Amino acid sequence: MKLHLARRVKVIESSKIEESLRILEQHPEIISLGAGEPDFPAPPNVIKSAEKFLEKGFTHYSPLQGRHELREELVKKLKKDNKIDADPENIIISCGSKESILLAIMTLVNPKEEVIIPDPGYIAYRPIVQMLDGIAKSMPLKEDDGFEAHPDILKKIITRKTRLLVINTPSNPTGSILTKRVLEEIADIAVEKDLMILSDEAYEKLIYDNEKHVSIASLDGMEDRVVTVQSFSKTYAMCGFRVGYAVADERIIKEMTEFKICTTLAAPTFAQLAAVEALRNSASYTKMMVKEYDMRRRMVIKRLGEMELACTTPKGAFYAFPNIKKFKLPSVKFSDALMKKGKVVVIPGTEFGRYGEGHVRISYATSHDKLVQALGRIERFIQKI
Ligand SMILES: Cc1ncc(COP(=O)(O)O)c(C=O)c1O
Repeated sequence: MKLHLARRVKVIESSKIEESLRILEQHPEIISLGAGEPDFPAPPNVIKSAEKFLEKGFTHYSPLQGRHELREELVKKLKKDNKIDADPENIIISCGSKESILLAIMTLVNPKEEVIIPDPGYIAYRPIVQMLDGIAKSMPLKEDDGFEAHPDILKKIITRKTRLLVINTPSNPTGSILTKRVLEEIADIAVEKDLMILSDEAYEKLIYDNEKHVSIASLDGMEDRVVTVQSFSKTYAMCGFRVGYAVADERIIKEMTEFKICTTLAAPTFAQLAAVEALRNSASYTKMMVKEYDMRRRMVIKRLGEMELACTTPKGAFYAFPNIKKFKLPSVKFSDALMKKGKVVVIPGTEFGRYGEGHVRISYATSHDKLVQALGRIERFIQKI
């Protein structure tokens, strides 16, 4: 039978991440530094809370916009942690923050309109934009700028067709953060060019070196111009619970909520209720994880330095993005060879956009011992190139 598939299927290129996951399954001797999720389990009080709600029969659908208890709790969190004034009507709960990214772009961008995305940047932005027949335009992030967005570069990319600018702080894959000064410059550009901003803050709590996370929606005059997206996945190691959310102007949230009918309807009910417990009683668990990630981060940077691999010091998330240009190999070839000969998985930089070339992403959401072993293997591998 001749199979008729939509042209849209071509938007999703087969990913190196998926390929390495398949290989890892068959080769337990390989160590993966590819993970995009915490190696910690969810906090014990959150697991107990989920069990309690399941036993009590919270096994039904939730309202499309999400449980009221959770949105009420988030109002307090957003005020205290992000200086964002919201009420429950400004918040939608989604299946992970990824769904919020999808719903926001569905709501804000017409076919043929442009969305500026960070490059290198999170893998999902480009295919989501393209799937919706929008045009994804790269905003190159330069290593010389510490991978921060450069306002002068940004200004040059904006055209009359640009609708939306996606920013991500702390960043996947570079671990860089956007400082208040840069965010203010981006905010000024957004106002001048009448752009909306999607601010992906999935890693907001994973910050090091006494740096501060700043939400662009908290800057003067920005509250109506920004869709802020945050998540329980990384902050509380709750990836499998699938709870994230977006905060924005009530009119935007209303439209995003209507789209929920054709996406996931609602995030799991018991997971949303357990997320309330996370917000109330799991701050110390996050602190514990950040302390451990920070130790690993320092160790990774020190070891990469000993190997003479240049690496911008990550200030957030749990990734390092070392420069491998001196080996004169495309990042895909370098990663393939490292997996086959060195028995370590890293993610080639081009998975995050063409400006990721010359880099690989190392995740330190991997146990300390495995990390030490993997870095030893990388050192031996590069000595032989
Ligand atoms: C930058 C960024 N945003 C959003 C997400 C989506 O996470 P979730 O859907 O689990 O909230 C991820 C996941 O890796 C990410 O790295």
